[in-house]
Amino acid sequence: MYLKNLTAVNFKNFQEVVLDCVPRLNCFIGDNGAGKTNLLDAIYYLSFTKSFFNSVDHMNVRHGENWFMLKGFYNRTGKEEEIICSYQESQKKQIKRNSKAYRKMSEHIGLLPLVMVSPGDSVLIMGGSEERRRFMDGVISQFDSGYLHDLIRYNRVLMQRNNLLKQVSQGQAPDVEVIDVYDGQLAESGTKIFERRISFIRDMVPVFQKYYSIISRGVEAVGLEYLSDLSSGPMYDQLKATYARDRMVQYTTAGIHKDDMSLILGDHPMKRIGSQGQQKTYLIALKLAQFEFIANVSGIKPILLLDDIFDKLDKNRVEQIVKLVSGDQFGQIFITDTNREHLDAILRSVTSDYRLFMVTNGKTEGVS
Ligand SMILES: Nc1ncnc2c1ncn2[C@@H]1O[C@H](COP(=O)(O)OP(=O)(O)OP(=O)(O)O)[C@@H](O)[C@H]1O
Ligand SMILES: [Mg+2]
Repeated sequence: MYLKNLTAVNFKNFQEVVLDCVPRLNCFIGDNGAGKTNLLDAIYYLSFTKSFFNSVDHMNVRHGENWFMLKGFYNRTGKEEEIICSYQESQKKQIKRNSKAYRKMSEHIGLLPLVMVSPGDSVLIMGGSEERRRFMDGVISQFDSGYLHDLIRYNRVLMQRNNLLKQVSQGQAPDVEVIDVYDGQLAESGTKIFERRISFIRDMVPVFQKYYSIISRGVEAVGLEYLSDLSSGPMYDQLKATYARDRMVQYTTAGIHKDDMSLILGDHPMKRIGSQGQQKTYLIALKLAQFEFIANVSGIKPILLLDDIFDKLDKNRVEQIVKLVSGDQFGQIFITDTNREHLDAILRSVTSDYRLFMVTNGKTEGVS
């Protein structure tokens, strides 16, 4: 699958931009603040019906305007697809596929698979466990709609149980029968979520380690381990065992809403001992594993957006990454850099199928 043509009007710092893209490597070159990341975000938007950066749509409207429009022509498994996203302040945004509006935005998710590699990914290492759960959930729910359903159900019951625990502590007698019903429901959906997270991590880790080893040329070993309360026993039993504590602290302390991933370099946590380049390598390898995972389950090679991947990495690692993504297992790629010589030299050595776009202050010019 690939994006043939992108039009953005009044999107962030672009008044109007039209890009004819090539099926393989497209590179945005320009100074800081020129609009390279904004172009990647426009492409991200067309796949996910929202910005990678702001959940508030009016932040994406060019200053001084009150609407924006994004249009993408795709070739998807040999068929043409036209996607239009339009937003006008104080109105509902609209997404159209081949001139037909979707009723729900969620119907569009998964049609145009995409993986974004961004400097913002560092929250996966540095942030709290909710970031790592969001990563697992984001990947699994792209191809398993039942998973998302179970997650929504779990979170709803969890909220009800927590509300009851709060009331109970305000002097009311605990209704153990109601708690027991909640425990049964949490155990049912929680166990399904647990099992799917286990199988996702089990399949993904070897792929992730393969990519890390290629990029670092085998100089370091990394690991990733799924951590869950459910590993030490069934969810229902855990809820019973922690009930006294839950009553005291007024919330549910055990369950898949506490899951985490432990990210390891050698024998130590990546967060504590990883250098900036090692952390960056770790995140890129993780995203490439995500790419391979989605490609395998969907049968479509996702679009790959690589924002600022050269920052903090040495020459060898940069070259390994570009070689890797120029291989047959990857499809269309959009890559940003501030330095043309830097990128041009690597690209010429690995492939001829690429196009460069110079980006300056919200304008682009193709120079392939
Ligand atoms: N809604 C908006 N309206 C107008 N300009 C905007 C809007 N949102 C962001 N910008 C501008 O877009 C520019 C940032 O663009 P972007 O992040 O794409 O830069 P970049 O080329 O990726 O730079 P860097 O190399 O530093 O990453 C900033 O100048 C910012 O002020
Ligand atoms: Mg940028």
